[in-house]
Amino acid sequence: MNLDQIIAETSVMPVMVIERLEDAVPLAHALVEGGIRVLEITLRTAAGLDAVRAIRQSVPDAIVGVGTIATPDQLKASIDAGAQFGVSPGSTPRLLQAVADSKLPFLPGVATISEVIQALEFGFDVQKFFPAVQAGGVKMLEAFRGPFPQVRFCPTGGINVQNAPEFFKLPNVVCVGGSWLTPKDLVAGGKWAEIKHLAREAVALKP
Ligand code: 3PG
Repeated sequence: MNLDQIIAETSVMPVMVIERLEDAVPLAHALVEGGIRVLEITLRTAAGLDAVRAIRQSVPDAIVGVGTIATPDQLKASIDAGAQFGVSPGSTPRLLQAVADSKLPFLPGVATISEVIQALEFGFDVQKFFPAVQAGGVKMLEAFRGPFPQVRFCPTGGINVQNAPEFFKLPNVVCVGGSWLTPKDLVAGGKWAEIKHLAREAVALKP
């Protein structure tokens, strides 16, 4: 699947921080059953890559991405673990070159107009705007649209069920991401039905 096909599968991308490997598969099942197939597993925890392997093996309907990729080594480890796409919180020429060489579908992180230009230079016209709310939110994305109407964004950072609709109104927003779908206490408590409900609610946000 290429990035456009992956993005077309979802309007909301859960940003998942897996603390315990055993949570990975039931959590992914809950999200998929709630209607969200495209999942971003972050490398913020030691269990991240094993979670990717487990979900790839046991949840065939999921489309599994790896987030928090910041170095070429992490990129390689993610591909080896079975990542179907990648996400970075920010961009450097070194990382973008490695990603372009790898051909992995990828959402590079940007927060400034120079970073938007840099990511375009490497061929990425769908970008993650991070941290979205903290870096200027809806108004910043409107400003990006002036010079770069062709760039599409997946904002994440500070987005939730209340403010997501404001982002969906923008023509340059193709999806939003966030950790609100996988609250720590629900995951720790194995409250999969509640997570499924959050997924359903999130799917209904985009008009
Ligand atoms: C990310 O890595 O995309 C963000 O941490 C998600 O931000 P949130 O936790 O504010 O949703």
